[in-house]
Amino acid sequence: MARTAVLAGLGGYLPPRRVTNEELSERFDTSDEWITTRTGIRSRRWADTGISTGDLAVEAGHRALKSAGLAPEPGVVDMVVLATTTPDQPCPATAPDVAARLHLGPVAAFDISAVCTGFVYALAVASAQISAGHADRVLVIGAETYSTILNPADRTTSVIFGDGAGAVVLTAGEDDQPGALLGVHLGSDGAHKDLICIPGGGSRQRATHGEPDPAEQYFTMQGKKVFAAAVNHMRQSTVSVLDAVGWTTDQIDLLVGHQANARILKSLARQLDLPEDRAFINIDQVGNTSAASIPLALADACAAGLLAPGDRVLLTAFGGGLTWGSAALTWPGPTPA
Ligand code: COA
Repeated sequence: MARTAVLAGLGGYLPPRRVTNEELSERFDTSDEWITTRTGIRSRRWADTGISTGDLAVEAGHRALKSAGLAPEPGVVDMVVLATTTPDQPCPATAPDVAARLHLGPVAAFDISAVCTGFVYALAVASAQISAGHADRVLVIGAETYSTILNPADRTTSVIFGDGAGAVVLTAGEDDQPGALLGVHLGSDGAHKDLICIPGGGSRQRATHGEPDPAEQYFTMQGKKVFAAAVNHMRQSTVSVLDAVGWTTDQIDLLVGHQANARILKSLARQLDLPEDRAFINIDQVGNTSAASIPLALADACAAGLLAPGDRVLLTAFGGGLTWGSAALTWPGPTPA
């Protein structure tokens, strides 16, 4: 039996302020009808001013540790991996601060930047550390405050993205154990980096002289082109991971995909010959929460009683970079709360 990362804890956290489509329709030239039909979103949460990604990550981390039966104290995990597009500041990374605020001691802690695929990338890195014997337990967090990078002049992105955080605890186990992370597939295509980006603020467009152009500091997305690429890459990536673990599509109990658009998830399910109700959807309540999307969806699916011990679960995501990735795991028992 091979040493494998096993899911041992799960937690999600959403900031309290719910922003409805009706509220956004008063601010933008948009409507509840357009947003629900084109995206499936009914409301999203936005953090109040002053609340950071790290703040949300600490809450989700607490909940994941608690669900794994672990007290937040030094030695309970060997590593904290935080996936985010919206770190608390450009330097240093947000993960060390989150680890310190969770009282986890002098653990390895770092951020991963793969936009909406960030959580799957973080899972891959964490599970490799466990399989290689470099870590016994890792806290993996996806956390975002997209409300801080949305362009108030862009109605399309402004109605899509939400804030939130989700986290899992991975622990060393064996591959025949419920909860085992059995396979991961990752990919990227930097030739299309401009389809989803924040143009300014980095080393290519430094704001060293004069005032930075605010428009260059905001998140941009070419939605139509991204839509087709998202479906194609998630389909290919899920097929790759299924081949690697030897599962057929009809053996998947739940597809937990990145919540970018309900139409994307339904289209993906159709292309995989999976009944639509096996593609979990919570975008209606949370919007697109980028790197937080998959752990938040797992927490919601779990709370809704849709995951039973031993179920075969497929995760898949797509995002800026371009990046994409998928992971196959069995659901643990007893189910983490
Ligand atoms: N309210 C009302 N109308 C809007 C609008 C809004 N919030 N946003 C855009 N529109 C308008 C456009 O201006 C356009 O009008 P026009 O036809 O008069 O030019 C029309 O709606 C269609 O715009 P388009 O961008 O083609 O819409 P779409 O059907 O492609 O939906 C997205 C836009 C962003 C919802 C969709 O493309 C999408 O989900 N893309 C993929 C996102 C994704 O996968 N992300 C993954 C990583 S985050």
